[in-house]
Amino acid sequence: MKSRFFFNISLIENVKNILSLIFFKNQDFDSKLREQMKFFYNESNFYFYDYGRTAFYEILTHIKKNTKKNKILVNSLTLFEVINVIKYLGFEPIFIDNEKNSFDTNINLENEKNVDDIAAVLVTHLNGVNKNILNISNQIKNYNSNNKTKKIYLIEDCAVSFGAIINDKYAGSYGDFSFLSFNIMKNITSLTGGVLIDNQRKIISEENNYYKLSKFDILKKSIFLLALQVLNNKIFFPLFFRFVRFSQKKSFNFFLKKYRSDFEVSIEKKFPKKFKYHMHILQKKILYKQFKKVVEMQKKRIAKAKIYYDNLKTLKELEFPQTEFSSINSFLEFPIICSSIDVKKKLFEYLLDNYVDVKNYYYKNCSEEKIYNKSKNICLQSKKISENILMLPVHEKIENSDQEFIIKYIFSFFKEKNQF
Ligand SMILES: Cc1ncc(COP(=O)(O)O)c(C=O)c1O
Repeated sequence: MKSRFFFNISLIENVKNILSLIFFKNQDFDSKLREQMKFFYNESNFYFYDYGRTAFYEILTHIKKNTKKNKILVNSLTLFEVINVIKYLGFEPIFIDNEKNSFDTNINLENEKNVDDIAAVLVTHLNGVNKNILNISNQIKNYNSNNKTKKIYLIEDCAVSFGAIINDKYAGSYGDFSFLSFNIMKNITSLTGGVLIDNQRKIISEENNYYKLSKFDILKKSIFLLALQVLNNKIFFPLFFRFVRFSQKKSFNFFLKKYRSDFEVSIEKKFPKKFKYHMHILQKKILYKQFKKVVEMQKKRIAKAKIYYDNLKTLKELEFPQTEFSSINSFLEFPIICSSIDVKKKLFEYLLDNYVDVKNYYYKNCSEEKIYNKSKNICLQSKKISENILMLPVHEKIENSDQEFIIKYIFSFFKEKNQF
């Protein structure tokens, strides 16, 4: 059995990083990293932080200074912390629903009641490019050219779509601003990390005061990764998996909150200080070293996603939000949508019982959360996806035989289920 987690830093590399942090002065890879970023985003300006959400916080701070408008159009299906950032800056989130069984979202500015109150549209690219980005970008350009003093900004959230391409341009090239995340669950990682991409090259200096991470802070992150690497390695994982399974069944969350992905929605009074840090030079070095692999890795993930699709597409009980196996999708995992929440729960448990480690998606239907949305209008497609979805692993360690194993158990679940 294989863990659904894969960290793009090996255990040996992690230990080397820890030693170099303690014993050596690390070379600054800042300019090399900027060169790599230019390969994807040409002459844009880049700002490096400890989290993707920090990049978003900085973007919104900049927009806040330049607008009196208060609404942000945003995907309902997203990481709830993104909505928190919108709230911290005093904006009101207006939620956009998903298209049916799809990660894509769209807007129609002509139908927006309060279009002149919209400060920005945040497009979330989930697991690949949101195919409507060109249409959304054109609508905004159109509005802006007719309303010169009331600019609507376009922001792209590429936290889970780095490397995906549409119309020969990478996700993140279309917005005024975009941001990336490089936390340890991403295809390339700087332990934690985020980049602000300023395509307009207008942010001359940062608005907020950010802090510098100490060696000790980086050491803590590396040791946390080391612990996860040990728990997920061949020897310990079967035992650790039993613990995960037990706690999943008994809803015993205390130790697993850091590890498991379905945490509770919550918000603080203001943007927490723990996120207000720049990226450390060691994080830049770690990130830089992985850049060469991005395109190659993406191709492999796409090929694995296609294997799932080709094998599972005959199952009428499942829907597939991503069926294009080209560089338009980045496939951190392969998503399947079950016909109901009950089927999803049972399938998840069945797979756990058979030692198949799959991921329960952690994006919420944020329009349903009272702390974000007081109206009764909730996004029903986002709700269905968030409740019924499971993610199958496609990472580097997943081999053909692992995929066969997973596919076999999904088939046997539906066979058994249909017998009752
Ligand atoms: C869609 C989305 N947006 C934003 C973020 C925030 O990134 P970070 O955790 O680096 O702050 C994430 C993190 O996973 C994400 O999945």
